[in-house]
Amino acid sequence: MGDQNTDNSAAASGKRRHATLFSNRFAFILAAAASAIGLGNLWRFPSLAAKYGGGAFLLVYLILVVTFGFTLMLAELAIGRKTGKSAIDAFRSFGKRYAIIGVLTALVPVIITPYYCVIGGWISKYLVVYLTGGGAGTADGGGFFSGFIASSGEPVLWTALFIVLVMLVVGIGLEKGIEKLNSIVMPVLLLFVIGISIYALTIPGALDGLAYYLIPRLEDFSIATVVAAMGQLFFSLSLAMGIMITYGSYTSKETNLEKSVRQIEIGDTALALLCGLMIIPAVFAFSGAEGAQQAGPGLLFITMPQVFATLPFSTALGAVFFFAVFFAALTSAISLAEAIVSFVMDRLGFSRRKAALMVFVGVLLLAIPPTLGFSDWGNATLTIGSADMTILDIMDFLSNSILMPLVALLVCLFVGYWVGPAFVKDEVEATGGVHFKAMTLFRVMIRYIAPAFLLIILISSVLNATGIIAL
Ligand code: PHE
Repeated sequence: MGDQNTDNSAAASGKRRHATLFSNRFAFILAAAASAIGLGNLWRFPSLAAKYGGGAFLLVYLILVVTFGFTLMLAELAIGRKTGKSAIDAFRSFGKRYAIIGVLTALVPVIITPYYCVIGGWISKYLVVYLTGGGAGTADGGGFFSGFIASSGEPVLWTALFIVLVMLVVGIGLEKGIEKLNSIVMPVLLLFVIGISIYALTIPGALDGLAYYLIPRLEDFSIATVVAAMGQLFFSLSLAMGIMITYGSYTSKETNLEKSVRQIEIGDTALALLCGLMIIPAVFAFSGAEGAQQAGPGLLFITMPQVFATLPFSTALGAVFFFAVFFAALTSAISLAEAIVSFVMDRLGFSRRKAALMVFVGVLLLAIPPTLGFSDWGNATLTIGSADMTILDIMDFLSNSILMPLVALLVCLFVGYWVGPAFVKDEVEATGGVHFKAMTLFRVMIRYIAPAFLLIILISSVLNATGIIAL
């Protein structure tokens, strides 16, 4: 039926397309969720929420998810399904001048994958420490963690190991197998996150953290909160980097896009909220309000061991927890790396293995600076606006606060004005009997609110980076 269009272009775009269509909507949602659920939820969301005012951040984030997140994800999936192509070719198929949007899109995973793998390496280290019985030693309030990331060779080795694993899966094409395993590991992760969240609230002092996390305070709202929440939204929902375009291209016309987007969003956001609940009250209990604000990227690694240390069977619990986190990180890293590999295959006509090898070398080289940024190159912090940033922070800022808002802005202009919002309506309604319920919201968002907002975000990020304003 409607699959024909996708199948034809699939054949045309060559080798990569052996990945073919998702068998049903459930398979598609699972794969998209595996990409979306990862360190964004477990590591990035709680530390940003802790840093940017708790309740204020949460509120802004939630509003953005149901408006921006919905609009952008739907637009990307529709572009993918309509064209049956991945980002560069998808945009190009509308006219040569649009190809630049695809190229910028392709750049995003090139920046994110290396530093994502650095954190993946930290997780691997913690997993092995817990598996070998040394978990208790990590619960010392940060000394172990800072010592580890500041050491010279070790974090590089763990990062390299993580990259090898990711690229092996992508190079051999084992994603399907991993996704099957994932459907067992993810429920375990969810159970853990729920269980620990409930337990953490019973730790003395945790309720202050709960109040901080859930109650928005006016003085905590600022442009910085909005910029951070917006960057997090792109990161967590795997938006503005071509991934959802590619997933859309694998999706058949039978899949109800609007409903799928809602489900992916709800799943990803619910998990992020729970991760905040698991970590933020606990940080307050162990290190008070200042601890929460200063923690930064170490929060997950410092607080979680402290929580486990207060429990019986802490080593076993910690091992299962870090295993589940490791898996979530691995599946997301695979989807990031897959995006780069498929661009290389499409553009240079390389075989999967050759492309994977090339991407492996590239990602490894690019991952070394952010890893060493915490040790040998520790002085390499750059002052951006008012903040001292490590190399990892800079890469994160470049992708989430500059490049992704830019890509998202171009996607809005593309859909809102160049091809027109009716394009998305038609694509949603290509599924038999489906009526696009949120068309009015979509139209207003994609044409007016989203572009205006993204422009403000982008300008303030750039002004902040150049030191003209301090966010
Ligand atoms: N969304 C993933 C996470 O939350 C990260 C990711 C981004 C994965 C982009 C793939 C593509 O961890």
